[in-house]
Amino acid sequence: MGLNCTPSVAVVLSLCALFLVIESHPALGSNRGSFGLATDDVTAPPAGICSGAVILQGYKCQEFDVRTDDGYILSVQRIPEGRVGGAAKNKQPVLLQHGVLVDGMTWLLSSPDESLALILADSGFDVWIANTRGTRFSRRHVTLDPTDPDFWNWTWDDMVTHDLPTVIDFVFKQTGNKIHYVGHSMGTLIALAAFSEGKQIDKVKAAALLSPIAYLSHMTTALGVVAAKAFVGEITSLIGVAEFNPKGEPVANFLKALCADPGLNCYDLLGALTGKNCCLNVSTVDLFLKNEPQSTATKNMVHLAQTVRDGVLKKYDYGNDNFNVEHYGEAKPPVYNLSNIPHNLPLFLSYGGQDALSDVRDVATLLDSLKLHDEDKLSVQYIKDYAHADFIMGVSAKDIVYNQIVAFFKRQN
Ligand SMILES: *[C@@H]1O[C@H](CO)[C@@H](O)[C@H](O)[C@H]1NC(C)=O
Ligand SMILES: *[C@@H]1O[C@H](CO)[C@@H](O)[C@H](O)[C@H]1NC(C)=O
Ligand SMILES: *[C@@H]1O[C@H](CO)[C@@H](O)[C@H](O)[C@H]1NC(C)=O
Repeated sequence: MGLNCTPSVAVVLSLCALFLVIESHPALGSNRGSFGLATDDVTAPPAGICSGAVILQGYKCQEFDVRTDDGYILSVQRIPEGRVGGAAKNKQPVLLQHGVLVDGMTWLLSSPDESLALILADSGFDVWIANTRGTRFSRRHVTLDPTDPDFWNWTWDDMVTHDLPTVIDFVFKQTGNKIHYVGHSMGTLIALAAFSEGKQIDKVKAAALLSPIAYLSHMTTALGVVAAKAFVGEITSLIGVAEFNPKGEPVANFLKALCADPGLNCYDLLGALTGKNCCLNVSTVDLFLKNEPQSTATKNMVHLAQTVRDGVLKKYDYGNDNFNVEHYGEAKPPVYNLSNIPHNLPLFLSYGGQDALSDVRDVATLLDSLKLHDEDKLSVQYIKDYAHADFIMGVSAKDIVYNQIVAFFKRQN
């Protein structure tokens, strides 16, 4: 295309755009260019996930604080039983892992009959919800404060090494059972990376991966147009910011400036970036915007950008052979080789034809790396009309996706 598209710009934009595109969908009656992101009331204390979204619906819910080995304190919720059926012994635990720039609340935005977490509880599972470091209920550390740049010195590698094992170990110890795992977006990336290193395999029984992300190369094509228009200067200055807060001024200003460009139509543009979600409900989207997006580390966004640029799944690249040697003992960052995921691990993948973040061509690359997987252990679902957010909020997700997940988990004994 001859466009000078830097990956950092592309990723930053596309991930932020996920929220904007939802908000600016004409069918939802919002106006183009109204940025709820910047005007959120940051002074109101957030209600906890249990009290704000679970107990109200008539379910039991427990909150836990879990400490990672590098000092982060993560919030974890448990919904031990459904509305009927009670507390049977030895229920099968399921852990839900959200994506980047959102938190565990994303599993609870629709009505009880449409939200995956509550559907699983009503289907007899013991449901656990993770919240990764940096998100509102997990902005805690034993010594560091979120205002301290060192608090934000991590990428998704650290979720693979610290957050995911910590939470899986915790659920495993609490329940005494191997777990079923459900990931969306970055929640699939960190699981695939961990499994490829043989981590957690002994504690995971099966995994359902929605909008799977491992390769991101094909995002760039769709994003080239934007990136060419982008305000590279602003993005560069963002990279210096330790916390990447999509509701914060630097990011909001960047997006506002971008959309003020007369050459850009934000509606079309953002639709093109993230995919056209087919099936969102206005009230669910409103609730989503009240709760999300959440912060992540700028370094994490840079790492995701490297994945776009390199077309290979690797650990964070320090951008300098000496630094890489210092961290990895090699000049180049080690690759996560997904062909090494144990071939007998039961996997269910569901991806959408309209998903611009989990592009079908990138999913094809992922499936190619799984081509030696035991045939009867790999189920793949393709949903032509679905884009990224439909998997967590779509009104038809129960019928199309969640019932399949429940059936898939129930097949594993
Ligand atoms: C949209 O969400 C509201 C509130 O949760 C719910 O009452 C309504 O049934 C939903 N509509 C559809 C089509 O699912
Ligand atoms: C960030 O953490 C790495 C270790 O992962 C360390 O080498 C580096 O010095 C830290 N950077 C800052 C700015 O603290
Ligand atoms: C990944 O592992 C497979 C076998 O486990 C091997 O054939 C392949 O060459 C590896 N790929 C890379 C990029 O190292």
